[in-house]
Amino acid sequence: MSFDLKNIISIRDFSKSDINYILNLANELEPIANSKQVCHDLDGKLLGVMFYEPSTRTRLSFETAMKRLGGDVIGFNQKQGTSIQKGEVLYDTAQIISQYSDAIVLRHDMEGAARFISNNVDVPVINAGDGAGQHPTQTLLDLYTIHKNMGGINNIKIALVGDLKYGRTVHSLVYALAMYNVEMIFIAPAELQMPPEIINDLEKMNCKFRMSKTLYDNIDDIDIIYMTRIQKERFPDAQEYNKVKGEYTLSAKNIEDSDVIVMHPLPRVDEISFDVDKLPNAMYFKQAFNGVPVRMALLDSLIEK
Ligand code: CP
Repeated sequence: MSFDLKNIISIRDFSKSDINYILNLANELEPIANSKQVCHDLDGKLLGVMFYEPSTRTRLSFETAMKRLGGDVIGFNQKQGTSIQKGEVLYDTAQIISQYSDAIVLRHDMEGAARFISNNVDVPVINAGDGAGQHPTQTLLDLYTIHKNMGGINNIKIALVGDLKYGRTVHSLVYALAMYNVEMIFIAPAELQMPPEIINDLEKMNCKFRMSKTLYDNIDDIDIIYMTRIQKERFPDAQEYNKVKGEYTLSAKNIEDSDVIVMHPLPRVDEISFDVDKLPNAMYFKQAFNGVPVRMALLDSLIEK
């Protein structure tokens, strides 16, 4: 098997074979991440991180992944203290970071930012989230988590819950799941349902899905609940946010007699109560850990040795 992608921009650029390649390599690298060791695959290489939006997991798991492969990291996690404050544009900043590093990880609020940069620099570019667009590396760690828990990605029923309109994690994930024999239930208030263009794409892909407004009636019938945060920062109008905030909350009493797996890309606000954390169903912290081996696999595959 080989991996031929030069950039990681959208999960739609991946074939099933590309996904399998990354999941298999992540599985091989996981013992290094688990035992907090370092190998030497990327000795002397530098990763350039450009984060224009806040992040905990994506940025720190990329940094951890690079360091566990023997490399190092440069970059910024906010505009403050960089020449972006003097008016430097994304194109120029990326040109500079590409001169210093062997790959770029970019998080930006503008949909399409990572694709634009990948067309204009000579090092691999990884999309770490572009506005409400895509979050392909999150999808790969989600698939890894599903595979580990379900023994594969076929023949599962998954409910995606919360902010399906603005949520880039679910926008990426549904395109990946559509490649497998998976049934999806989109649970959201009407204002936050999956965008029509994605629904059209899923129909063309003959994907099995349905929409619902209720979470609790569906729990007995599903294998995985993928909760998401209703993202205040994406709403153009605070009143619209106030109408839907707190719409879905999952607590231990909703699932304690069930073996449904609970995933969440995190951060959470109030959609999963803390009493779920101690249940065997809670998979979201392990899911966040899985970001390390999966991002190790991506960096190991993309960065020229
Ligand atoms: N899941 C995720 O993207 O988390 P961060 O925003 O903390 O990176």
